Amino acid sequence: RTMASEPRKRYLLQQVWGGTRTFEDWRIPELKSISEMYGVKDWESFYDEKSYDQNSPFVVVRLSSDDLARKIGERLVMLKNIHEIWGEGKTFEEAANSAKAYIQKNKNCAAYMSKGKTFALRVCGFGRTYSREEQREVLNPFFELGWKGKANLSCPDALFYIFTDCGHIADTKKPPKKVWFCRQITDKTMRYKLHKYSLKTRPFIGPTSTCSELAFLMANQAQVKAGSVVFDPFVGTASLLVAASHFGAICVGNDLDYCLLHSKIHKPKAKKKDLFLNFTHYGFERPEIVCGDSANPPWRSFEMFDSIICDPPYGVRAGARKSGSRAALRGRKINPVDVWKHGVKHIPSSIPYPVEELMEDLMDFAGKYLAIKGRIVFLLPTVGEFKINTIPQHPCLEFVAQSAQTLTGGFHRRCITFKKTKIHKPGLVCKRRDKATEPPPAFADVKNQIFSGKSSSVEDSGDTKATDTKPSSVHVGEGKEQPASKKRKCNS
Ligand SMILES: C[S@@+](CC[C@H](N)C(=O)[O-])C[C@H]1O[C@@H](n2cnc3c(N)ncnc32)[C@H](O)[C@@H]1O
Repeated sequence: RTMASEPRKRYLLQQVWGGTRTFEDWRIPELKSISEMYGVKDWESFYDEKSYDQNSPFVVVRLSSDDLARKIGERLVMLKNIHEIWGEGKTFEEAANSAKAYIQKNKNCAAYMSKGKTFALRVCGFGRTYSREEQREVLNPFFELGWKGKANLSCPDALFYIFTDCGHIADTKKPPKKVWFCRQITDKTMRYKLHKYSLKTRPFIGPTSTCSELAFLMANQAQVKAGSVVFDPFVGTASLLVAASHFGAICVGNDLDYCLLHSKIHKPKAKKKDLFLNFTHYGFERPEIVCGDSANPPWRSFEMFDSIICDPPYGVRAGARKSGSRAALRGRKINPVDVWKHGVKHIPSSIPYPVEELMEDLMDFAGKYLAIKGRIVFLLPTVGEFKINTIPQHPCLEFVAQSAQTLTGGFHRRCITFKKTKIHKPGLVCKRRDKATEPPPAFADVKNQIFSGKSSSVEDSGDTKATDTKPSSVHVGEGKEQPASKKRKCNS
């Protein structure tokens, strides 16, 4: 039997809504990505679009089994819990009557209400809290459902919730817009495992380390699973690969910063720390790390990565550089043999890496090195309106999703996902902008827009000299941000 023909039950997802971080926009793309990873193909019949309200944490989906619901639920970062819906309505009585009908219709329900099984009923309101007395009143109609077992409040065999959605503006006396009576499937979601990966407890971090919530959201967007080969071309302190390792991926990273990778960023006598320490800390396999320039990838050409996840340096938090000679930039002729005469200890000089060029190289890299159905997931800071077609379009890649985190000053951090749909052939590259006739994309100049409000040439956007205009601090990332003046003068 195919999944589409299997009978389906309705499940209520209580997603993460509000709080200090503003990742609400990521909820549906994450749900779609993970459900697809677990074999849900027909999104339209899985997801009840009518149930979506951007101001509510509740979403309804249809699934063929509790096991599948548990698997999907336990993988999601933007989820608190998942429940099987037994009854619903606009009032508590309506929800209790609909639950009675559901119990009569579905023989499986009896197993959770039988004599040998203990149960507990709880009330949870969104936008409304219920006092003890009010809770007792709310529960009254649900005591009549025909329980045969005993109540056990601390460790029941089956846990039932009465959820109410009273709207996101808190008001103690508001009547609910919707009431659900549900049986809990799981509340052990990925969200509650994140504390282990907090940057505050990680042995090796830097000023641009990606916070764990974002890193796990990106790993979910990339559909990372056990055995996936995952690559981060701008690995930094490897936060994204730590998230991928949690799901059992084989990790490969690359960074231009020799000092960062070779632990030369600390004082000579200080205990040396590097990104590998993070992997031993969590008991993960060491990743394969290459010190190289993403503008000139050293990889043999074949479709070897299942996922590419990265937070490229756009010059906002980390300056984008690529290897090259400043003299050559000024027009002097360079003899390539001169570059190698320094021997292995030589660290090649670097020049600014314009953001637009970086994006073109990244999309070309994904088009060439991703396996078919593989995904590239990257972060992109934007200011104001953003159009997805301003990202360089590659003939082998198809746009999947974008979600935005709203930061201060009209500044967004977007997570963008593309999927490889076509086998790469020589000559298949991104369409380049015609610089004479087309204006530069808005993301190319984002650093200047954020820090000075002025616009400047694309060519300047990766230059670290422009850091003079930095404000005293930028609040991104999980740890406390250092003042700009104290930041290490390294690339990351
Ligand atoms: C925003 S940071 C990445 C942060 C990383 N996700 C983490 O958790 O630490 C960008 C990284 O890209 C590196 N980088 C800059 N230009 C590069 C290039 N051309 N090739 C490879 N890495 C580069 C920087 O050294 C920096 O470590």
